[in-house]
Amino acid sequence: MSDQQTTIGPSPQSFGALYEQLGASATYQQMMAEVFGEGYAAQLSIAAPADVRMLATRAGVKPGTLVADLCCGLGGPSLLIAKEFECTVVAVDWSRQAVQSCRQSAEAAGLGGALRCVAADVGHAPFADEAFDAVVSIDGFYFGVDLPALYADVYRMLKRGGSFAFYFDVPSQEVVDASPPDRRAHRESHRIDHQAALAAAGFTDAWSEDRTGAQQLLFERMAAAYSRHYTALEAEIGPDLADDLRGEVMQTLNLTASGLWPRFLFSARKPLHP
Ligand SMILES: C[S@@+](CC[C@H](N)C(=O)[O-])C[C@H]1O[C@@H](n2cnc3c(N)ncnc32)[C@H](O)[C@@H]1O
Repeated sequence: MSDQQTTIGPSPQSFGALYEQLGASATYQQMMAEVFGEGYAAQLSIAAPADVRMLATRAGVKPGTLVADLCCGLGGPSLLIAKEFECTVVAVDWSRQAVQSCRQSAEAAGLGGALRCVAADVGHAPFADEAFDAVVSIDGFYFGVDLPALYADVYRMLKRGGSFAFYFDVPSQEVVDASPPDRRAHRESHRIDHQAALAAAGFTDAWSEDRTGAQQLLFERMAAAYSRHYTALEAEIGPDLADDLRGEVMQTLNLTASGLWPRFLFSARKPLHP
């Protein structure tokens, strides 16, 4: 779920409160299991396991490598990458609840040694130069980060030859113009040429793939899950939040289907030699 969200404000506290409510809802877990498959419920993005595998592959993740997952949320994708790609993942999120949940899921899955969970704002990431072999992220950069500065910081954190891959929905001008005033400038800042910004940060092979079709299919499944389970969900998390969440899914589905908010998988590589 991306910046389309309106009432779930972008702060560590608001995400933490949301994660507490959703984590306590058996119906929400059931819905996510129906949409994404059993064993992969702990996540809030629109990235199914196949999308996460594609992301890790684009980032060149291999057994034994050290990977940062920026804005990891509840950690479903971080866990999948650590397990299937046999690597170590440093999962970073500014929400204390997200990091806690990530840690608990890793321990429950027997992957405690493969996941390090760090509470931090990715706009001020506390990592050394050339710390990681790869950096990935899914739907985490919508909430106030300065993207060109972030791309430069990811470049700094990567080892030479390392890769960066992330999912990001780029709003059309129509979406920016229709946004509430407090979101407009920020969304406008998402309409940069991301490949050029990655190149300006020093990356090479900057590349993007349109993944809007995959996103639309997932939103259609999410919308169907909300229809099937709405009454039970409302009883567990309250009518206001249930209505907000369903409203976001329907709004995003419409925007995605009309091509107004396309989704991309971006990737780029830090050159081996300066
Ligand atoms: C839409 S969720 C995606 C979570 C996860 N990547 C996934 O695929 O399930 C966005 C996440 O980004 C985190 N986030 C947003 N801005 C952040 C920032 N500046 N620093 C660290 N985490 C951030 C939020 O707390 C939230 O968990």
